[in-house]
Amino acid sequence: MRIRINARNRGFQYDAAPGEAVLYAGLAAGIDLPYECATGTCGTCKAKLVEGKLHDGWPEAPGRKYVKPGQGEYLMCQCVAEGDLTLEVAKFVKPFEPGACRVAAGSGRLRDPALLVHDVMAFAVELDAPRDFEAGQFMVLAAPGVQGHRAYSMVNYERGARRLRFVAKKKPGGGFSEWLFGTARAGAELRVFGPLGKATFQPGIANDLVCIAGGSGIAGMMSILARAVGEGYFDTHRGWLFFGVRKLSDAFFLEELSALRAHAPERLSITVALSDEAVPAEARQRWPQLAFDQGFVHEVAGRALKGQYQNIRAYVAGPPPAVDAALRLLLLEGKLTADNIRYDKFS
Ligand SMILES: Cc1cc2nc3c(=O)[nH]c(=O)nc-3n(C[C@H](O)[C@H](O)[C@H](O)COP(=O)(O)OP(=O)(O)OC[C@H]3O[C@@H](n4cnc5c(N)ncnc54)[C@H](O)[C@@H]3O)c2cc1C
Ligand code: FES
Repeated sequence: MRIRINARNRGFQYDAAPGEAVLYAGLAAGIDLPYECATGTCGTCKAKLVEGKLHDGWPEAPGRKYVKPGQGEYLMCQCVAEGDLTLEVAKFVKPFEPGACRVAAGSGRLRDPALLVHDVMAFAVELDAPRDFEAGQFMVLAAPGVQGHRAYSMVNYERGARRLRFVAKKKPGGGFSEWLFGTARAGAELRVFGPLGKATFQPGIANDLVCIAGGSGIAGMMSILARAVGEGYFDTHRGWLFFGVRKLSDAFFLEELSALRAHAPERLSITVALSDEAVPAEARQRWPQLAFDQGFVHEVAGRALKGQYQNIRAYVAGPPPAVDAALRLLLLEGKLTADNIRYDKFS
């Protein structure tokens, strides 16, 4: 099926396979169509149907509240063409920059699912073919028997990766969560699409680094720190990472974070923020490389960063309320410009 996109600045054409979402086919064709979550919640991918017939795969998608159905608007991440289509996108659209990691569909097998804490599972996907991705990007995964894709940020950083590492927080009643924490078995086949996301980190940036993560938002930050440490970014830059959880018993990756900090103890500081309890005495003894503080992660970050916002590039990820609070801090108190803030809302 031929898809024609009339964007604000120019037109694009590409082919979509039967059953392939209009957004995914366009991204795989090298067109940087607008999206944020790629899974039906944010509304960023909305487009107006000009000609042709399409099937809306998820009419109840939360992102539908941002479209005007009466005016023929749809979410490109949920729509599948039923013949040739023409869509209008009210945004500027460009091809991907040369050198951007190629976006493609593929498959992989679930490996090493393991509980990290009571409601967080680590798992890996062994890919059918190696992939490049940027630190801070995510893939969308489709599990057997679960309708639609779910976004998960890569924990590792590697070029030509055969294995992608992820963490998933359990959402009671959630499709992917119930599968992963319930019936999933190592070896199960997953469909994968990506890499996606613009909250990417390149060690060549001139700025210092601030990472603010709520809960499983730490996933992409692990990838960013792995790349930063691996490529000597902290030889010339400072970095702060804030990891918010409710209680110490909800925190994970503390050994890995300690090991990352040991590479740059003078320039990298890592603070675990506990919102629902005072810092237990054993925390500082068990993880001497890490700092601990009580409060919501944006509050803890705000105290630590006071007066130090010059020349910062910030990355934020996690549940929407945590991300929104951190964005307010960075914009209102830090006075960071929007181009120096990259975020993923795990909605
Ligand atoms: C950019 C990004 C990165 C993320 N990274 C992580 C991460 O690293 N770790 C983590 O724990 N979570 C992450 N999330 C959240 C994750 O994608 C899931 O929303 C969460 O795990 C709950 O999924 P679930 O299937 O258990 O819940 P559900 O409530 O079943 O589904 C949650 C989401 O899946 C999509 N969805 C649900 N039903 C359908 C359907 N019928 N058709 C199509 N789509 C559907 C929607 O986007 C919905 O909001 C991320 C989210 C985003 C947007
Ligand atoms: S990208 Fe389609 S709703 Fe978010």
